[in-house]
Amino acid sequence: MADQYAESHEDGGRIRTPSIRWDETSEGPVLLLLDQTRLPAEEVELACKDVSTLVQAIRSLAVRGAPLLGIAGAYGLALAAVRGHDVDEAAEAIATARPTAVNLGRGVRRAHEAYRAAVAGGAGWAEAAAVALAEAKALHAEDAEASRRMAEHGLALLDELLPGGGHRLLTHCNTGALVSGGEGTALAVALAAHRAGRLRRLWVDETRPLLQGARLTAYEAARHGMAYTLLTDNAAGSLFAAGEVDAVVIGADRIAADGSVANKVGSYPLAVLARYHHVPFIVVAPVTTVDADTPDGASIEVEQRAGREVTEFMAPQVPGAGGVPGSRSVAPLGTQAYNPAFDVTPAELVTAIVTEYGAVSPVTTDGLVELCARSRQV
Ligand code: MRU
Repeated sequence: MADQYAESHEDGGRIRTPSIRWDETSEGPVLLLLDQTRLPAEEVELACKDVSTLVQAIRSLAVRGAPLLGIAGAYGLALAAVRGHDVDEAAEAIATARPTAVNLGRGVRRAHEAYRAAVAGGAGWAEAAAVALAEAKALHAEDAEASRRMAEHGLALLDELLPGGGHRLLTHCNTGALVSGGEGTALAVALAAHRAGRLRRLWVDETRPLLQGARLTAYEAARHGMAYTLLTDNAAGSLFAAGEVDAVVIGADRIAADGSVANKVGSYPLAVLARYHHVPFIVVAPVTTVDADTPDGASIEVEQRAGREVTEFMAPQVPGAGGVPGSRSVAPLGTQAYNPAFDVTPAELVTAIVTEYGAVSPVTTDGLVELCARSRQV
């Protein structure tokens, strides 16, 4: 199997364009998003001057991934406030743009509550808007710090579960700097292993149908010079059977009170494979992804997306790869497609949930309650 070590980049592998940033322009404040639909071909920023542009960016996955959706939600609320738009309407529109990642509504609510508290305390709208913006910036910074700590805890757990080092990790979807204020969740753990010289191989699931693995995780892994190999999602079984996977590390969009984990569709089959092959299945997510108000996996709303994402395969967008931007049909006209964006893995298949406050293993309701209580004490 050929190695795919990428060249090292002068910028230490970091993506040059931040995944999200706030800017004050001559035309007023603007929320800039690294448009993830254009990666890996180009790093282009999408400017959101109003809430409807942001909502569209969320729906089209220009901005995506649970932690980043939380940050985008908070900034979006601040954007509406600073621009003098109807803040309550904005909160509703942004929070409901996608249903599964709990962080989105939480980010919106956090900035909204800060805004409302400022107004209730006698602040004018401009002052209250500044408070909402400060709250969004605080969430952004906290997420970066959470990333750093998840990477530490995650690597410690891997070293404990897999003594001897040389970890071969399988990951799904994209969970790196592109979804975070810092270096991400599961991919940040793999990156920590890489930096410590203990990553032997990162197996990257391509992640049908929107190819977050092929387009985004491979892009991040290449920039960091990690040893990575891309596979189609349906090749994972043979990889396990060949004994090539030491652990699965994935992120989460919502973790229910009973420890059920909603994550990108295709995660659950990996958990089943991991159990059959006696391989640890590790979920890495900030505490803000744990949702005590959702009692169990069956109560998690799973986003259903347009069938055309399945019936029309995205054409390659990499310059020189021979493709053109856009998509092409791969199924007969009129074919119906089943296209859930996420699936739910029951707690019993999850070896550990790693957060910035440490790991929960085994995954139980009591363990999660204790973890959330610990996070509130800090
Ligand atoms: O549909 P997406 O691309 O937003 O889905 C993202 C995922 O499923 C990620 O694995 C999840 O948000 C965790 S990111 C740290």
